[in-house]
Amino acid sequence: MITQTELLTKKGVHIQRMFGSIARVYDLLNTILSFNFDKSWRKFAVKVSNVTPDAQVLDVCTGTGDLAIAYSKVLNDSGKVIGSDFCHEMVRLADLKLKKRNLSDKIKVIEADTLHLPFQDNSFQVSAVAFGIRNVSDLRAGITEMMRITAPGGRVVILEFSQPTNPVFKAIYYFYFKKILPSIGKLISRSEYNAYSYLPSSVLNFPDRYGLRAQMESSGLEDVKIYLRTLGIVTIHVGTKPCK
Ligand SMILES: C[S@@+](CC[C@H](N)C(=O)[O-])C[C@H]1O[C@@H](n2cnc3c(N)ncnc32)[C@H](O)[C@@H]1O
Repeated sequence: MITQTELLTKKGVHIQRMFGSIARVYDLLNTILSFNFDKSWRKFAVKVSNVTPDAQVLDVCTGTGDLAIAYSKVLNDSGKVIGSDFCHEMVRLADLKLKKRNLSDKIKVIEADTLHLPFQDNSFQVSAVAFGIRNVSDLRAGITEMMRITAPGGRVVILEFSQPTNPVFKAIYYFYFKKILPSIGKLISRSEYNAYSYLPSSVLNFPDRYGLRAQMESSGLEDVKIYLRTLGIVTIHVGTKPCK
């Protein structure tokens, strides 16, 4: 059994096991717990990535592949997406989903750690992540690695939970996020790791949207733009790798 305190240290093997324990119900719980908003958040992240139709895109921490699938919808036959994740169960389910939807030609999924991506420098026009970077043990190293494999002039895109801006809405939302969501998550997932208690804890321990922008800038990304969705429940950051 791994405690919440241990999980919050984000040691890779603990994070892998926790996500492995919820992989089979991950999509269902995303839909239920986000009231189906999650799909529109990923779609919007793709929109603001400013991707060209022939782009090569990397979706790190891809989970069951939903952001990769959202990118594939705006690409032509030359465009390709790779989804990477270090959780075997997630990658297996992503692969099955792609086969079922006849998307295996357009999207490949591989097992890889975001901190050590098996790609050469400057390989992708966009490297993106949805709800993943918060779980990476070293945020700065994760952003730096995403930036390394992104081509000069390309974008690093981060979709992540954030704090709502309106105080009244924030109080209501936090009651749901901290008290109700973990119980529903536990009931449905039966995760021994309490993955859905880790979710609010990890969000509250993560830098706020300005802190994340500062991290991206200090990693060398330029012109970092911030887009709030659903009253600030999530924020999308888009930074550009300098051309130099
Ligand atoms: C909350 S899920 C997000 C999945 C997906 N991107 C989505 O939009 O639903 C986080 C994923 O990040 C993966 N992950 C966390 N740390 C990782 C790391 N260091 N390297 C690769 N994958 C990682 C987990 O295995 C998990 O599948």
